[in-house]
Amino acid sequence: MALIVDSVTSWFYFLVLVFVLGVIFSKWTLFSRINQDEVFLDEFIDSVLPRLAIRGLVLLTLSMLLLFLNQLTAFRDIFVPWRTDAWLLLRHTSWGFLWVATLAVYALALVVLNLRGMSGWSFATVCILLGAMFPAFSGHASAVEGLSWLSLSADVLHVWSAGGWLGSLACLIIIDRYWQRRNSERKSLIPIFISRFSSYSMVWAPMLVISGVVSTSIHLSGVDDLLYSDYGRVLFLKIILAVIVMGLGLLNSINVRMGFHECGDIGRLKSNITKEIWIAQIVLLLTAILIQGSPPGHQDAEHHLGIEMFLVRMVGIGMFFYVIAFTLILLFAIYLLQGSKSGSD
Ligand code: HEM
Repeated sequence: MALIVDSVTSWFYFLVLVFVLGVIFSKWTLFSRINQDEVFLDEFIDSVLPRLAIRGLVLLTLSMLLLFLNQLTAFRDIFVPWRTDAWLLLRHTSWGFLWVATLAVYALALVVLNLRGMSGWSFATVCILLGAMFPAFSGHASAVEGLSWLSLSADVLHVWSAGGWLGSLACLIIIDRYWQRRNSERKSLIPIFISRFSSYSMVWAPMLVISGVVSTSIHLSGVDDLLYSDYGRVLFLKIILAVIVMGLGLLNSINVRMGFHECGDIGRLKSNITKEIWIAQIVLLLTAILIQGSPPGHQDAEHHLGIEMFLVRMVGIGMFFYVIAFTLILLFAIYLLQGSKSGSD
């Protein structure tokens, strides 16, 4: 019973976290440079995004409270009152410290977005990115000895990429619904933004896979663990479903590149995107179950790593640094480009 409650709570938390990250990232990616002729659209996006982020943050706070209740139940000592236990958990454990710090940054983001709307977006982005480090610092990634810098950075990047990719997609679908509800005579927003989304997903999805492979190589001691341990079997199922989600995403991207969405078949594209989001939710549910188990790679005191896992880790680490360097160069290029544009304006 406790496993079900913990898994459902963690699933709800991951779902909302990925969505809020998606809303935040989409302003910097999908909706960053809206055509100057589309002033009405620009104003619409700028009025809807802060409201979506605020609602998401309220739900995120609620999910954090549920996580706290679960943690408190696990921590419970029946010989002392609840309040004493809660105080001990919050004041004297690193989990409690992280939980309070995370709630504080979400509260800051909420206040700034409420007071300043779109002009507080940069500050809210930093707060939300910091808050999204909670799963890494409070979970299995933080329990790895020796390689904790790698497991923590891989896990943080994994969560951010899930938000950048699937969260932005969910955000686009929701914004499109709002748009059509408000302006029923206007066309869907999907054809305007889907090509951009498809280009950005070519960065987010590989980052998600590479960081996932690095984490896998840290939490397992050999490829056999994928079949012969409870943790490995759930992870294996998650990888299969993640591959299906990515396959669907790739298919949608190919269709977009071939101009499929311009031929008017938006209904089919939307239904494919909805399928992608539904299966991604099952991936998140499996992740929520996964984090309840114990990674077999951690139980081995000296962590005897199989040669194949060693190779996977080496390739993963190489790609990991490659992707980080590539992303930094890309961000620098965008920064330079924007500088030269504003100079010429
Ligand atoms: C649709 C794709 C995916 C999504 C949305 C996703 C999402 C997530 C999330 C939200 C976490 C939680 C982080 C935490 O609690 O610290 C996580 C953890 C993890 N993911 Fe993924 N992931 C995806 C694909 C993958 C893939 C392809 C792999 C492996 C190749 C992978 C391997 C892992 C591992 C090993 C963990 C750590 C679990 C633990 O802490 O025990 N993920 N994932």
